This record gives sequence, structure tokens and C-alpha cells, in this order.
Amino acid sequence: MDYEEAVAKAPPGWRHFTADDIARLPREVLEHEMARVPPGESEERMVRGLFWTLVYHLEPGKWAELARFEPIHPDLVAALPDSIEVAVDVAAGSGRLTQHLVTRARHVIAIEPSEGLREMLARRLPQVTALAGWAESLPLDDGIAELTSACGAFGPDPAVLAELRRVTAAGGHVALLSPEDPEWFESHGWRRVTVPAFRAPDHPAWIDEFFGPLDPPHELVMSRVDG
Ligand SMILES: C[S@@+](CC[C@H](N)C(=O)[O-])C[C@H]1O[C@@H](n2cnc3c(N)ncnc32)[C@H](O)[C@@H]1O
Repeated sequence: MDYEEAVAKAPPGWRHFTADDIARLPREVLEHEMARVPPGESEERMVRGLFWTLVYHLEPGKWAELARFEPIHPDLVAALPDSIEVAVDVAAGSGRLTQHLVTRARHVIAIEPSEGLREMLARRLPQVTALAGWAESLPLDDGIAELTSACGAFGPDPAVLAELRRVTAAGGHVALLSPEDPEWFESHGWRRVTVPAFRAPDHPAWIDEFFGPLDPPHELVMSRVDG
């Protein structure tokens, strides 16, 4: 989601944060995220535009609760390759997708820039190698994975897609669940699997009040990496 869209679509919980919270973000995160913010922005627009970053890095438990009540549709999990050696989950969060990859791959690597979310993932899935990193420059060798995946994280960003392909072995797959702009992927030859949107399981009222209506992942786009 680009910055302008993030400002426009900030969930109601943005009021929970202030400019002081932006200043509390880890230095490297602040540098990465401020690169998206145009000069001269008001405090309100910055807080709105960085809402999700503030949640992931300062309130990771809130994201983990939301993810718990937005499960990935089982048909999408079933459509992913299985019996593979190495799978990578980029922008893994607290492990909503990673938990399924461990049943399909012998070794799973999770990349996640938020320390709080990475620690949750590592506690929940100790068999996974959890690394800090950004999708634009993955800390991984070329062709390391047969499946490189992400859930709820990316759209057709050329720099990110190039990195996802770089770390995927020839004949392997890149799979994005709940991608931004799935139509773009479909029109560029990616296989698209869509299941009807489904209701989130019963959950505490604060989650809607903070994040707005829940929308469990119900789209997958997948592409084979040629040699
Ligand atoms: C919507 S959450 C999805 C988390 C997890 N994949 C899931 O499905 O629950 C987006 C995640 O992407 C991470 N993230 C945001 N920008 C990133 C980037 N440029 N590179 C890698 N991860 C990023 C965030 O820290 C957050 O954990």
C-alpha cells in the first residue's frame, strides 16, 4: 500500500498513536519508513500513514491478535506446494502463514523486520529460522528456496518481486496470499486462486474498534520461477 493510500485508509486505531510514537520506532525502521513520507506532512497524516508500522513495531501483540482471528482459508494453504526442502516466509509477522509452511517443508526460514513479532514467531515455531530483514534486500542466498511466500504484505512492487524470485530456485514457486492488486498478477500470467470472502471467527470487540472490519485472507497468486 503506498503512503497516500495508507493515509486515506488508516483504521480507527490510528488515534491511539502520536508523533512521539513515530520517534520511538527503532532507528533502522524509522529510516526505512520515512523514505515513503513526503516532506512537510502534518503529524496526523504521518501517524495515519505509518499506522501499520507503528502497530508491528510498538504494539506487536495487537497485530498477533488480529492475525489469530483472520485465519488463512484452508483451500489457499492446500494450493501451496508441499513435500519441499526449503520454504521462505517473507514479512512473516507472528507466523500466521509460517505455521502452515512447517507442515509442507523440511526447513522454513521466516524474514520479519519487527523484533517483537519475530520473537513471538520464534517462541511459537522454534523449528523455524527467524531472521531480521527487509523484502527489498533479503538476507538470503540466490535460489535457496523451492517456495518463497508472503501473506498480507506485498503487491506488484518490482524491487520486492525481483528479490522473491532471486531467492527462489529454478522450478520453484513464489506465492503471495492476500496480495495487493491481485488483478495485476493475474494479468501478468500468475495463477490466481480466489475463494469467497468468509466471516472471521468470533473475536473481541476491541479488534474491530481498533482495526476496522476483519478480512481473512482469501486470495492467492502464484508463479513458477524459470531457470
Ligand atoms: C499484514 S502483516 C502480515 C504478517 C504475516 N505475513 C501474516 O500473514 O500474519 C505485514 C508484515 O510485513 C512486515 N513488513 C512490512 N514491510 C516490510 C518489508 N519492506 N519487508 C519485510 N517485511 C515487511 C511487517 O513487519 C508485518 O509483520
